[in-house]
Amino acid sequence: MKNSNEIAPATGKLGILLVGLGAVSTTFIAGVHAVRRGLAAPIGSLTQMGTIRLGKRTDGRSPLIKDFLPLAALDDMVFGAWDIFEDNCYEAARTAGVIEPDLLSQMKDELSSIKPWPAVFDRRYVKRLDGPNVKKGASKRDLADQVRADIQQFKTANGVDRLVMVWCGSTEVFMTEGEAHASLEAFERALDESDEAVPSSMVYAYAALKEGIPFANAAPNLTVDTPAMLELAAQTGSPLCGKDLKTGQTLIKTIIAPGLKARLLGIAGWYSTNILGNRDGEVLDDPESFKTKEESKKSVLDYILQPDLYPSLYAQLCHVVRINYYPPRGDNKEGWDNIDLVGWLGYPMQLKINFLCRDSVLAAPIVLDVALFLDLAQRAGMSGIQEWLSFYFKSPMHAAELYPEHDLFIQLMKLKNTLRHLKGEELITHLGLEYYD
Ligand SMILES: NC(=O)c1ccc[n+]([C@@H]2O[C@H](COP(=O)([O-])OP(=O)(O)OC[C@H]3O[C@@H](n4cnc5c(N)ncnc54)[C@H](O)[C@@H]3O)[C@@H](O)[C@H]2O)c1
Repeated sequence: MKNSNEIAPATGKLGILLVGLGAVSTTFIAGVHAVRRGLAAPIGSLTQMGTIRLGKRTDGRSPLIKDFLPLAALDDMVFGAWDIFEDNCYEAARTAGVIEPDLLSQMKDELSSIKPWPAVFDRRYVKRLDGPNVKKGASKRDLADQVRADIQQFKTANGVDRLVMVWCGSTEVFMTEGEAHASLEAFERALDESDEAVPSSMVYAYAALKEGIPFANAAPNLTVDTPAMLELAAQTGSPLCGKDLKTGQTLIKTIIAPGLKARLLGIAGWYSTNILGNRDGEVLDDPESFKTKEESKKSVLDYILQPDLYPSLYAQLCHVVRINYYPPRGDNKEGWDNIDLVGWLGYPMQLKINFLCRDSVLAAPIVLDVALFLDLAQRAGMSGIQEWLSFYFKSPMHAAELYPEHDLFIQLMKLKNTLRHLKGEELITHLGLEYYD
């Protein structure tokens, strides 16, 4: 990590490469265009609206994060994407149905010019989808080379200085780390042999990291969470983060659970169910894709509640997560949580949460922040896992010897302290004794 005066400036254009041009990607791209033109506000984005306190509470220094750090400007962003469907970004945004047609039509020209490149896709990894815009190649290595060629062409055609790639493609089937992922050498052999252990998402991630491009994983797939990818990221100085954007029900869970635990209230059960009608919901209707999501959603409570430290409060917790595909709702998900609490002397209580959210509206500002922070990280000389970006993810990537931090408030403190550290500002511990000396 470099000192503040060594962070390279954000000059020139930043290319944002999105794998998948579905609800999240189109809501993000259209949103950035709307904000640029002053048609809407970037609500939910820490990089655009957040402030950071510097020094003592009495100092009155709380600049906007985007004024404190050299982040790329929204005006300097250029977008490229891959998808298995040929629809351009305007058509795909209409299909996703998240942003009102009136607002979209004001940006029709810019959005229509973003046409997806043919995808690396294999139905083996996403069973519920199929589309015509797919690359053909002699091997998975060949497909990775084709993705690298797309990137290089995009860079030249748009005069782009730096790039970031974000996987916003569908959730792939559940996979665990195997021999093919154990080292870069083994992985490259697997690419040559088109081994089944290499899903499409890994082909893109390999191409990005080989080009020294930061990579974020918005879905719960294994993708870059393997020793092979970490080895490659270290070799090429590429920062990484993931997995699975923390939106909707899990966001609420990581807001509520730390509060209940802080007050040592017991939890006997936490039942979470959702109805979701977008394409993501359709893909998650396949049990193998759902398993990837379920693992990601369920781990959160174990780590926040620490049942090993508080066995009488949390060891018996029954945690159930369900997602039901229900087309009439589209992207407007509805989540219900029932929490069975235990209070003083063992008396039971219940808490019910009914969240009528818009999944992609919660996800889009995260994609923006993650892209801007990954670009910053690279200019600051940081590579590999960016644990300080855990704030944005359901299953944060972490070093092998650590457990992940899921508590949203600790995650935010970690993120802001990293920003202070990058600029040589004092870290904030919240000790505060000096005010009473
Ligand atoms: N919306 C949220 O709040 C949220 C939260 C966390 C995670 N996610 C994850 O983000 C991802 C995107 O979500 P979404 O709502 O935009 O889904 P979506 O189905 O609308 O979009 C995904 C797009 O990816 C494309 N795709 C699939 N495989 C591809 C491949 N190999 N190459 C290129 N394109 C491919 C699909 O054709 C589709 O257009 C999903 O994996 C989802 O689980 C979303």
